[in-house]
This record gives sequence, structure tokens and C-alpha cells, in this order.
Amino acid sequence: MTDFAGLDRYLENNRQTHLDQLFELLRIPSVSADSTKRAEMDRAAQWVADRLSRAGLKTELIPGDGPSLVYAETPPVPGQPVVLVYGHYDVQPADPLELWKSPPFEPVIREGNIVARGSTDDKGQMLTHVLSVLAWHACGMKLPLQIKFLIEGQEEQGSEVLEAKLPEIAKRLECDVIVISDSSQYAKGQPAITYGLRGIAYFELRVHGPKADLHSGSFGGAVTNPALALARILTEIKTPDGKIQLPGFYDSVVPLVESERAMWNSLGFSDEKFAEQLGVAALTGEVGYNTLERRWARPTFDVHGLLGGYQGEGGKTIIPSWNGAKISFRLVPNQDPKTVGQQLRAFLKDHTPPGVRVEVIDLHGGRGVVVNPNSPYMQGAVKAVEEGFDVKPVLIREGGSIPIVAQMVDALHCDVLLIGWGLDDDGAHSPNEKFCLEDFYRGIRASSRLWHHLAQSVVA
Ligand code: BES
Ligand code: ZN
Repeated sequence: MTDFAGLDRYLENNRQTHLDQLFELLRIPSVSADSTKRAEMDRAAQWVADRLSRAGLKTELIPGDGPSLVYAETPPVPGQPVVLVYGHYDVQPADPLELWKSPPFEPVIREGNIVARGSTDDKGQMLTHVLSVLAWHACGMKLPLQIKFLIEGQEEQGSEVLEAKLPEIAKRLECDVIVISDSSQYAKGQPAITYGLRGIAYFELRVHGPKADLHSGSFGGAVTNPALALARILTEIKTPDGKIQLPGFYDSVVPLVESERAMWNSLGFSDEKFAEQLGVAALTGEVGYNTLERRWARPTFDVHGLLGGYQGEGGKTIIPSWNGAKISFRLVPNQDPKTVGQQLRAFLKDHTPPGVRVEVIDLHGGRGVVVNPNSPYMQGAVKAVEEGFDVKPVLIREGGSIPIVAQMVDALHCDVLLIGWGLDDDGAHSPNEKFCLEDFYRGIRASSRLWHHLAQSVVA
């Protein structure tokens, strides 16, 4: 018999030490986008590796051309499934710093939440699995299946190191199911199992005009302004009714099925509440689809930042020599980010105004995923989440991306369980990111049950 009461007692008695450990990790500014933070990436990788070895796992750092991968495993259990826990120790940049109520890398508890960069995405969520395995170890309990951990440091930048290493380490990663906690519950008090994620194709566009900035009085009206050319291109990519104009863009899109639409309609989503949460006067998007459908199952296009031109104090009358934009397309199954890159280039051939040249830089990409809802592990996950959160989870899809998941599923021929403990309003990628303290503890409890139920799901 698995001694859940003993595990629960252990988890109850170790609430403070668990929080202290998360705080330690949150204090490491492991921002993968920032090339000056390499030492911090190493520290974070080492920290995760240390915790896994303390939990009794055979642990190693796998170096690559970028932040190291942390790999660890418990001993094999013959005849039982193998689980691979995937997560990331890197975080998004913390700026704009002035909008944080407390410094991003000095975690605090505020109004029942752990506030720090990476609290929900993904250090807090990822750690729930490390701590639950540590709990089994500390209680002297033998795990009913083999657990492998792969924690990377580049998820927020497109997982280049892992992508490059995947063929070489695929044998070590062999598993029946990948478990990932890097997403959200449906709502506060309503946990969820996510069965779909969108993919992404991320680019930087650079529009080059005159060979140097020009006085806009002397030259304005006689040349194409790169900022205006860029603005025109960006607004032409997506029409006001939300349709993307790249040639062939929708050809491979898997359409929404009626049963999914019906299931999501029963979730009771409120546009009014959502608009209020976001502080916007209206919700907009592709015609013919409601908000959940637009976010979970339809592709879209967004601009993340505009580059070049005069950004300083006061005025400066120039025609900039160049302007740029960071842009991305969110993709759905079966769109392919490489094909989208070709479609973007084809679109630009026909939509670049005369007098400027457009350069496309591929930043990163990943395909979307839809999980097998009939996987034998799904029922085990449902039970574990229900026992951790005292509420039965609902099935949802999400709009975010974990770019490497589709590739891992292809390489390892395994199932995936996306069981996120975050909330939609956690402020991931935004100032004052938070993770509900009680959900951290509930997540550890759900994870501590998961190993048992996953082993049971194949026995049955
Ligand atoms: N945790 C997110 C993915 C996510 C977000 C899943 C929301 C479900 C809901 C992940 O860390 C992330 O932010 N990924 C990036 C990937 C990109 C930078 C390549 C994303 O989605 O923008
Ligand atoms: Zn993220």
C-alpha cells in the first residue's frame, strides 16, 4: 500500500523548506535572452542538478552551445511505465523594471502569492515535481515507476540546445509519457489538463532605407520612410477581421471540431470578465470564432516590439535609415514554422514598397501539439490532479507554446500530459509575475500522487 498519509504529513511539515528552496531558485536571474547572464544560467542549472541528486537521482549536466540541460533519473522499474518530466529553469527578461512593486529576483509573498520573475513560468511549477520525488525519497518510499527529468535553460528562446542534442540523447530520454507543468488551470479553483498548445514562428523584420538617417525637412516627401513602410507591411499581414494574408497560410490548419466547440462553450467563459481582467475596452479577433477558440485553436499574428528610429527624449526630425519589428505567428496543428517562414518571404516580395529592402531574420519556431485524449495516462493524471486540488480537472487547450514538445513526441513516440498549476492572470512574461502559494503546495501534492496513479493506469 502506498502511504499517502505519510507523504501528506511530510509535505505538511515541509511547507516552509519547500518555499525556501523555491525562493533560492527564484533569486537566480537566469534570463536566457540576456547573453550577459551565462554565469547565472550555469548557477541555475547547477542548483536544479543539486536538488535532483539530493532526491537520490543519478544526475548530470549536459553541456551544449548555450545553457546546459539538466538530466536525472531514478532507477528503472521493470514492467512499469517510464515518465519524463520536462521543465525549464530559464525565465523571460524582467523589464520594465520600474513596474515591479518589489524587485523581480527578490521573491516575496504578497496576498497569498509568490511574486518573482519565474514564479509561475516555470521555476515554481517545475519544482513541484522535483519536490514530490524528494518527498518519496525522504519518506523512504519506493517509486512505482522510473522517473526521468529533463530541465532545460532555453525554453523561452526556442530550445536550440535541446533541439540540437535531441538525436544524441533520445535513447536516454526514452519514455512512455512526458509530464509538463508549464501552463495554467482553467480558472482559480478550477484545475485543468491541457490537451493542446499552439506552435510559434518568430522572426525579426528589418526594413532598410537610406544609407544614413536623413534630415526629414530636407528629404521628407522624396524617399520611402522605413518606419512607414514597416507599418504598412505589418498592418497588411493581418486584416482587421483577423485573417492572415500570407499565401497558403491556412492550407494545413486543422479545423475546430464541433464537439470541441461544444465542450469549450460549457466552460462558462465570460468575455466581459476577461476584458476587465486585461484592462481592455473590447476583445477583438478573427471573425467567426469566439474568444476561447481564437486563443486555443486558431493561428494569429502579433508584433512584440518595434526597433530603430528616434526613441530618446524630446524630438529629432529624421527619416530613419532602418526600422525593425519583432513579430510572431502563433500556429495550430498542422502548421509548420519553416513553411510559414517561406510564406512570409513570399508575402514580402509582393508587399514591400519601392525604395526599401526587407530583411527577414528567423529567430525560432516550434509546431503546435494536440495530445492524445485517450492516452492510458490521462485517467491517472485526472485522479492525481483531483487529489491534489480537491476538484476534478476540466480539459482545455491553451494558446501558449512549448516549442520543443512536438519534436520530443516525434523523437520519443510517447504521450504527453500537460498539467499546469498556474493561473491566467499570473502575469507570466509581465511585471509582478506571481504563483499562488497554495497552488504551489497543491501542485506538489498532485505530483506526489501522480507517480502512483500513472503506474496504476497501465496495470488496470
Ligand atoms: N509556459 C509558457 C508556455 C505556455 C504559456 C503554455 C501559456 C500555456 C499557456 C512557456 O514558458 C512560454 O512562454 N513559451 C514561449 C515560447 C516562445 C518564446 C518560443 C511562448 O509561448 O511565448
Ligand atoms: Zn514563458
